[in-house]
Amino acid sequence: MITQLKLFRSSFLDFIDDPFYESEETSVRYLADGLLVVESGIIIDFDDYNILKDKYQGFTITHYPDLLILPGFIDTHIHFPQTEMIASYGEQLLEWLNQYTFPTERKFSSKEYAQKIASFFLDELLKNGTTTALVFATVFPQSVDAFFEEAERRNLRMISGKVMMDSHAPDYLKDTPETSYQDSKRLIQTWHKKGRLLYAITPRFAITSSREQLKIAGKLLTEFPDVYLQTHLSENLKEVEFVAGLFPEAPNYLGVYDQAGLVGERSIFAHSIHLTPDEFKRLSEAKSAIAFCPTSNLFLGSGLFKLHQAKSKTHPINVGLGSDIGAGTSFSLLQTANEAYKVAQLQNQTLSPFQALFLATLGGAKALKLEDKIGNFDIGKEADFIVLDYNSTPLMRLINQQISEPQTRLKIAETIFSLVILGDDRAIQATYIMGERAYSKE
Ligand code: GUN
Ligand code: ZN
Repeated sequence: MITQLKLFRSSFLDFIDDPFYESEETSVRYLADGLLVVESGIIIDFDDYNILKDKYQGFTITHYPDLLILPGFIDTHIHFPQTEMIASYGEQLLEWLNQYTFPTERKFSSKEYAQKIASFFLDELLKNGTTTALVFATVFPQSVDAFFEEAERRNLRMISGKVMMDSHAPDYLKDTPETSYQDSKRLIQTWHKKGRLLYAITPRFAITSSREQLKIAGKLLTEFPDVYLQTHLSENLKEVEFVAGLFPEAPNYLGVYDQAGLVGERSIFAHSIHLTPDEFKRLSEAKSAIAFCPTSNLFLGSGLFKLHQAKSKTHPINVGLGSDIGAGTSFSLLQTANEAYKVAQLQNQTLSPFQALFLATLGGAKALKLEDKIGNFDIGKEADFIVLDYNSTPLMRLINQQISEPQTRLKIAETIFSLVILGDDRAIQATYIMGERAYSKE
């Protein structure tokens, strides 16, 4: 019997190490003319076309000349129910939550509505080249069911969870420690590791959870040690002050989560802008991760994330990019990387084009402890990848004419930088999930 193989020929770029710590020579893998071989959704071969072509003679090849194949983008922080409220005017975090976010999330008590928005949201992710995301749902468990059902239908590797919130929020959006425990437990048992889906325990942030509820979240983590923990940390100065008043016994904001047992290897903290050196150090020791959300941080005026400090050699922390829709302003991780570059510039730091793409791919996979499954083209990984057109607009074509043919790793760096700064969903020609085309621009 002939096995069903899928073969893809194009230029390929991925990472085999972290370009924040290793040289580009050792961390970037660029094949000007490569061949990727997929069997049952898994990568079984990957090398130069010339090296592999005899081995796979006779097989049909999908060829993408003049395009570039990258691993699918990984968004480490996003709220699916906030899709419809992107671009809500004029407020910073706490007012923005009360004025826009909470009333929007109220609508997700309807499963039917949640299903409709989840479907739109996942289509939008694929259109933007994002194949995996760590996703906030709402306090309503049915909104989590709706999200996972839609993700399962598309065979996507997605992580999500029910928001736990019992304090400082409107009554219509509050649960209790007990109901949040029961609902989260039921959802973990239903969805965690169902196909490609994974669960994240999701206390919204320290302001909206009582001590008792944070402890319940910690209890769930000990009962289900391989699920994730996602929350927000130190995003806005007024928020940090509010938390210090609510939890005077904690040494700092991260300490509130730490005292509840929430700071571990599978914990991802969104924003983490106003951290003290002690908090950076603790995140590094605990092997926790940070979701860096530059479009959101600029939009809400939250502050400038100290990426260079998080990626320090002495206390390294895994960092991924987050769009943080709906405080973020773009689903595109290219646009998110563009803003990340500017956040670095404002602090007299640099973010190289390869470092930016690393954050959007293997860096995100490492932050989510999924680097054994996704993030690059290593043999054995799941074949989630995207086909990019770095000439997707007349302006990009004009700019790329000034750059000589991108045949080497050094020359492709210039092309990648223009893609990061000018690219968006128009640059995504196709998105593949487990070797199957799930989105095509034309
Ligand atoms: N902190 C608590 N909830 C939220 C939210 O929905 N968005 C953002 N950006 N920050 C938060
Ligand atoms: Zn958020």
